[in-house]
Amino acid sequence: MTVKIITIDGPSGSGKGTLAAKLAERYQFHLLDSGALYRILGLSLSKKNLIESLDSQLEKAVDIAINLDIKFVVGEQGTQILLDNENVTNTIRTEVVGELASKVAAIPELRQALVARQNAFAQEPGLVADGRDMATAIFPQAQAKIYLTASAESRAQRRVNQLQAMGLDVKISDILANIEARDKRDMERVVAPLKPASDAYIIDSSELSIDEVFELMTTYIDQQLVN
Ligand code: DC
Repeated sequence: MTVKIITIDGPSGSGKGTLAAKLAERYQFHLLDSGALYRILGLSLSKKNLIESLDSQLEKAVDIAINLDIKFVVGEQGTQILLDNENVTNTIRTEVVGELASKVAAIPELRQALVARQNAFAQEPGLVADGRDMATAIFPQAQAKIYLTASAESRAQRRVNQLQAMGLDVKISDILANIEARDKRDMERVVAPLKPASDAYIIDSSELSIDEVFELMTTYIDQQLVN
């Protein structure tokens, strides 16, 4: 029997992460946060001082990517992410690590090194896979493919709200500039650029609440999963 797969692709700040987690809960499916893998890889390579010399030390970087020691520990405070047994759950969400992730994600050999790890998440009873190339590259066989987008301004505003709620003082202009730079890099890279699959259901969440987007998604997914 083929494992049921729901893919959610789109730019950062579109609400993908929140919605993917809600969908995994609703359908009782496994959850793959592929962005977290790129963030962990960026962090790991940066700790080993390899970010500035990725071209000349690519073989070493690929080896690190294939052998990353990552654990997802599900507990009362949600899923904790361990890298080499160190809790990096909060560290990987910082803007700095997001930048590192976007850099390593542009390198084809490093993307390839993470493919097997992502495929391993496709297990019964099913998977919700959140990322940029879930439908176009990793799980083209998915039954339900969603592309969730939102204007750069509304994504920046959401990010500012999140960071302020964490007690951080941030300027929207800085966040917007970051988002635009990262979108550009993710969309223009040669390998697996961010774009909707030809058969994806596209949702623009700029003017919608999480609940409204969730409703649209589940209506579409329910139809796709019975077919
Ligand atoms: O979704 P995120 O912000 O956690 O992703 C971090 C970076 O990783 C983002 O700049 C793009 C990259 N990424 C990717 O290239 N492919 C994926 N499937 C997921 C993330």
